[in-house]
Amino acid sequence: MKKRTWWIWGILFLAAIGVWSWAKGSRDEGQDEKKDSIRLGILLYRGDDTFISNVRQALEEQAKLYEQGTQIKVVLNIEDAKESQNTQNSQVERMLSLGYDALCVNIVDRSMASTMIDDAIRADVPIVFFNREPVEEDLNLWEKLYYVGADAKESAVLQGEIIVDRYKEDPSSIDLNGDGKVDYVLLEGETSHQDSLIRTEWSIQTLKDGGVPLEKLTGGIANWERSQASALTEQWLEQFPGQIELIISNNDDMALGAIDAIERSKIMDKINVVGIDGTPQGVQALERGMLLGTVQSDRTEYANAIFTIAAALALDEDPKTKITLERGRYYWTTQEALAR
Ligand code: GAL
Repeated sequence: MKKRTWWIWGILFLAAIGVWSWAKGSRDEGQDEKKDSIRLGILLYRGDDTFISNVRQALEEQAKLYEQGTQIKVVLNIEDAKESQNTQNSQVERMLSLGYDALCVNIVDRSMASTMIDDAIRADVPIVFFNREPVEEDLNLWEKLYYVGADAKESAVLQGEIIVDRYKEDPSSIDLNGDGKVDYVLLEGETSHQDSLIRTEWSIQTLKDGGVPLEKLTGGIANWERSQASALTEQWLEQFPGQIELIISNNDDMALGAIDAIERSKIMDKINVVGIDGTPQGVQALERGMLLGTVQSDRTEYANAIFTIAAALALDEDPKTKITLERGRYYWTTQEALAR
């Protein structure tokens, strides 16, 4: 009798070991298996910013191409922070709690990245920042943080060169009244944005280095916005009647605002206006002859870089095997000067 009980216990024990090792085996297999879908969060500082909404569209196109090329389904959730860092932090928290695979963040306030970075580290969800560059010490907090953008100094030098080249070809096309100096006004983006200061500084420096004699009439901050730039320009046209020869703008939307004001004023239609971004709207103004030049960052390449890094991270792959990065975490998109 006793002998039989031992047998039964023995068989039960072996069966339990069998079930345990089968379960473990299939769990390990599951880990090796490739994901067939990825979830990415796209967080925008302001959804109605023209340049950003163009990048957003390009990201959606990239996601479709990726799905066709890989058979991996992409779920993109796009959120607009409407310029509130608190709103964006809550959007990040929500996506982290929902188990998103990676986030692409166009941060509202570039000096406030550490809160979301801490949350992302805790949840082990990588972040690809884009367009608004967090300070370097924040980006260095974790190896799963990346940045994609257009180099601000390069944009500005290219913008300045458009004017320098034109001036060298024919000084009277820039110094419109031929008095030996070019009277200009300056439209600047947000003060807190890394691109504003650098673009202003290098655009002017390039003009000076290129031998264009400059005289600044005035300048102002229009926060990248067409309507704000239009209001400022309208004021300047009244303040400096017939004097403004050149309008240098940190981006295309503000350049378009300046053009709106010039068109409304009917005072002087020859003022040269230059922008940066090469948005479709900017290129249209160039074709209409209203914009002298712009600097286009390749938005397909821009979105492709953000998407490629995010998708690789979502699949636990090393982005460096997919795309060339500077210092392991930066991607600078190609830019090209366009002039009429
Ligand atoms: C700049 C761009 C602007 C605006 C801004 C938003 O790089 O030139 O048009 O989009 O980013 O962060």
